[in-house]
Amino acid sequence: DRSLKIAPSILAADFADFGREVRAVEAEGADWIHIDVMDGHFVPNLTFGPPMVKALRRHVRTVMDVHLMIAPVDPYIDVYADAGADILTAHFEAGPHTHRTLQAIRGAGMRAGLALNPGTSVEVAAPLLDLCDLVCVMTVNPGFGGQRFIHSQVSQIARLREMIGDRPIHIEVDGGVDATTAPLVAAAGADVLVAGSAVFRGGSVDDPSPYGANIRAI
Ligand code: DX5
Ligand code: ZN
Repeated sequence: DRSLKIAPSILAADFADFGREVRAVEAEGADWIHIDVMDGHFVPNLTFGPPMVKALRRHVRTVMDVHLMIAPVDPYIDVYADAGADILTAHFEAGPHTHRTLQAIRGAGMRAGLALNPGTSVEVAAPLLDLCDLVCVMTVNPGFGGQRFIHSQVSQIARLREMIGDRPIHIEVDGGVDATTAPLVAAAGADVLVAGSAVFRGGSVDDPSPYGANIRAI
């Protein structure tokens, strides 16, 4: 179903070759590029920050979907706008002032995303939806790729779809998405599927055709 967007997460790509990885996975059919920023504080893992995102801007031709797993968020919003993020997603759990954060992201000229951990009820998004271009429902606890999909999140995705109705807000699902779990989240109402290990497995920049086969299998 091509109204479903696939956003490969470069967390599962070769960290020493991100530019070529991005170009390879876009050539193989990626709709967006999902970029996981982790601070070793909000989540127990560290990836990279604004200079890497800015360097990736020269390679991403689709949409730079930047998922911030950092706290605090607000001091960095302008830096990510300058780095060229198209969508900037912050976690509800990252601080007490999510409403202000979402306003600031839009104010800086980006589309605003709200991410919800598996332990957070989607009901918290109700007063924030008019500030959101995207809600990201985490189907793993954030921090690492390759974790097992948390099935109890499927009913939360369905509830969020009810809450959103036909407002133009994407429902993105992140974590453990593969050919088995993708149909479940799509049926529940998700329209953007993030996938790291399920896209990059079996391929490399020198032999990227498995990326395309993996994307089509999702
Ligand atoms: C998890 C990240 C995800 C992750 C998904 O903290 O936000 O984007 O890379 O990886 P897979 O698809 O392997 O679960
Ligand atoms: Zn992510």
